[in-house]
Amino acid sequence: MKQNISLLGLQWGDEGKGKVVDNLANDLDAAVRYQGGHNAGHTLIVNGKKIVFHLLPSAICHENIKCYVGRGVVVSLEALFSEIAEAKEVLGSIENRLVISPACSLIQPYHIQLDQLREQSNNLTKIGTTGRGIGTSYEDKVGRRSIRIADLYNEEKLRDKLEQSLEFYNSIFKYSFGAPEIDLNELYEINLEHAELLKPYVGNVIEEIRELQNNNKKILFEGAQGALLDVSLGTYPFVTSSNLIGGVSAGTGISPSDIDYTIGITKAYTTRVGEGPFPTELFDETGTYLAEKGGEVGATTGRPRRCGWLDGFLLSNMVKVSGVDGLCLTKIDVLDGLEKIKISTEYKSQHTSGSLIETMDLEEVEPVYIELDGWTDPTSGKTSFNELNENAKSFIEKIEEIAGVPVIMISTGPKREDTIIREKI
Ligand code: GDP
Ligand code: IMO
Ligand code: MG
Repeated sequence: MKQNISLLGLQWGDEGKGKVVDNLANDLDAAVRYQGGHNAGHTLIVNGKKIVFHLLPSAICHENIKCYVGRGVVVSLEALFSEIAEAKEVLGSIENRLVISPACSLIQPYHIQLDQLREQSNNLTKIGTTGRGIGTSYEDKVGRRSIRIADLYNEEKLRDKLEQSLEFYNSIFKYSFGAPEIDLNELYEINLEHAELLKPYVGNVIEEIRELQNNNKKILFEGAQGALLDVSLGTYPFVTSSNLIGGVSAGTGISPSDIDYTIGITKAYTTRVGEGPFPTELFDETGTYLAEKGGEVGATTGRPRRCGWLDGFLLSNMVKVSGVDGLCLTKIDVLDGLEKIKISTEYKSQHTSGSLIETMDLEEVEPVYIELDGWTDPTSGKTSFNELNENAKSFIEKIEEIAGVPVIMISTGPKREDTIIREKI
């Protein structure tokens, strides 16, 4: 039995991670978020009710699971408290099941304001961010000037750091954007109020995880976003600002060699929210079909998701760079009823595939597709591989061949039970 499992999306996010975590959760003791922030939107359908988690590990839905927010996560306390309040309505108090690292960098209102001002500017590259202050907060983190959760409990230090930050941000707001400035006293008071509310949740994440590991407990490290949005290995600059590939260790404090199994999640097709290259994007009625049937609307921002065919070139590379041991294929039911299904396997391009992997500069590439027969016998809601029609089975086997790793789980619908487990981790 594997004890430390890393789960990550292999595309541009929204692969169905929330649903998969929910399905795996019965076998878990703990779950950890290690990167990103409330830009994530992980959807679960619990007793017919839809719940979306942004900052909390999705497994918090299961009452015996201890949940952690590691140091790699950028935390907006406003977002955290509203999510805790929402969770409380469905799950009761989660105070003794949630531990947040005092080393997390905070997202302050000036991060959100600057993120949104940049996105609205006509002179800057539009990334299509979620507008949540994620990138701007990570800028402060790598710039070594973040206000961290621990700083909230040293009033003098907190005020000094806020003052320094506002000196910098307010001058940008005023001189670069002609935007309103933020008041130091008001922001300081809000931070102090938040500090009190947060106290019960702040704890020693590294120590607690080590203890769980020593007791052979099963821990899931839940990646947010997707490998193609990784700031280092994704489609830069159209990425988010965190490392999800290899981020588990830096984002929690565990050793890189602790991960026993990595599960990668891919949709049976591809979606993307925001700007940036998308070689297999569809602009025809098939794209509309996937968007409508797949309900492809952003779980965080409500933006429509761009849709296209599965990109085998990117999938196989993301499997390799992420060290994926087994795949979970989601939303195969969305393909039910299509006459033909395409998968791109390589690109026609003046670039070599080696240089493409190195730069991930996909603006100019043209995909080469293989075409498979679709199916009329639905996969929707199926729970065993043998129940699937032969064409769906061939589609899955083709994905295994392209990715070079087994498909161990198949999701056939949004509900917890709409799942085929081929190999238990
Ligand atoms: P995440 O960010 O990776 O957790 O994914 P999202 O929650 O943003 O988006 C996935 C969407 O697809 C959600 O609305 C899920 O309820 C839904 N979903 C997940 N798995 C399946 C599936 O196998 N079939 C269908 N039809 N919907 C699914
Ligand atoms: P989950 O965890 C899909 C995208 C944004 C934008 C880019 C940068 O639900 O899969 P950011 O606000 O992070 O600076 O935006 O990244 N993005 C996501 N797309 N799913 C997500 O999370 C995303 N988180 C960020 O749309 O293109
Ligand atoms: Mg999502």
